[in-house]
Amino acid sequence: MYKFVYNIPTKVYFGSDQLSKLGKEIKKLGDRVLICYGGGSIKRIGLYDQVLEELKKENLEIFELSGIEPNPRVTSVNAGADICKKEKIDVLLAVGGGSVIDCTKAIAAATYYEGNAWDIVTKKVPVTKCLPIVTILTLAATGSEMDAGGVISNLETNDKIGVASPLMQPKVSFLDPKNTYTVSSYQTACGSVDILSHIIETYFNTEGSMYMLDCFMEGMMKTVVKYAPIAMKDPENEEARANLMWTSSWAINGFVRSCQHCSWSCHSMEHQLSAYYDITHGLGLGIVTPRWMRYILDEENAQRFRNFAVAVFGVDSKLDNMSAALEGIKRFEEFLFVELGLTSSLKELGIDRTHFDIMAEKACGNGVLKGFKELKKDDIKSIYEMCLVK
Ligand code: NZQ
Ligand code: ZN
Repeated sequence: MYKFVYNIPTKVYFGSDQLSKLGKEIKKLGDRVLICYGGGSIKRIGLYDQVLEELKKENLEIFELSGIEPNPRVTSVNAGADICKKEKIDVLLAVGGGSVIDCTKAIAAATYYEGNAWDIVTKKVPVTKCLPIVTILTLAATGSEMDAGGVISNLETNDKIGVASPLMQPKVSFLDPKNTYTVSSYQTACGSVDILSHIIETYFNTEGSMYMLDCFMEGMMKTVVKYAPIAMKDPENEEARANLMWTSSWAINGFVRSCQHCSWSCHSMEHQLSAYYDITHGLGLGIVTPRWMRYILDEENAQRFRNFAVAVFGVDSKLDNMSAALEGIKRFEEFLFVELGLTSSLKELGIDRTHFDIMAEKACGNGVLKGFKELKKDDIKSIYEMCLVK
């Protein structure tokens, strides 16, 4: 069990005034750079101008792909790959949140493929080569700045699918908490839930863990529970933004997953919600995760829930396992729906059971969703049903 490879090869510049290193870092990777960004937040916060200034200092040739959507579409990936092929791009620079970075990763791979990038996302063709990627993160959530995966949506087929390859790992990431000061209270809440979920998906596993990693995960979860409400109330609180940002990277960069299998149960269920209803990833996770917890909790696994409750929410350690577990889930719900103010049910989002059947089928890959507790299609449908009501 205690056997793993540690290899997290992203160089991180953390904190303010680090952007002066941007041009030189990109120059090492090539001269022709494609800047990828979203709907314009980077222009509103002045980051776009700063980036151009730094790139010009090194006389880099600059190209642009803008308008990458939240829940990025495969159409944007194809558009980006076309530019890369036509303009012989050497290096990609993603400036934005997880959606921008994910899309950029897929572009990096699709540049070396002549067909539709969807073939890569669906693993019909393997990732064989990628352009190098540099990122400037503006939203603490996905960890895409320091991991090897990305998630792409296809509106035609209502699919949202993850694709990963070590070749997609960013070479360099610039993490300045100040770039997240303008993230809305809602996106801060959703991003924080995403960070928490990445840890929860790893923490709840049947293979056990290492005591050291358990403590690390509990510390990261406590960090999110402490700082998310502060960042929402006081968006320019550097301590809060810095803690959330660095936790976002470490929650999913592979470190805590060193020696156990992680099944991404709640992510599989949430991705169907985003695919069919284009909802924010963290919001969907907030609705699904506590229902999943209530559905799978039993006498056998209550101890693990108890540890979570005591460590993260300070639940009384003298309670028996089941009582502590239930109290922990209740506190988690209060955190999500009262403190963070997230919508607590699918009904309130106008979502009904119309697509539950096909969503459940896709979530378990037409078989069994392995995880802390194995879930079949009917289990997943039951969890979606629980999500309907407040
Ligand atoms: O598009 P712009 O104008 O940039 O606005 C964005 C977008 O509207 C805005 N925003 C970003 N930084 C901002 C800002 N607004 C003001 N100030 C700033 N500094 O926030 C909105 C949401 O951005 P998005 O990138 O979609 O959010 P997030 O970082 O949460 O990314 C979500 C996507 O990542 C995927 C999700 O499924 C979803 O598609 N995930 C990626 C993972 C990975 N690569 O490992 C793992 C995750 O589990 C997740 O699935
Ligand atoms: Zn996530």
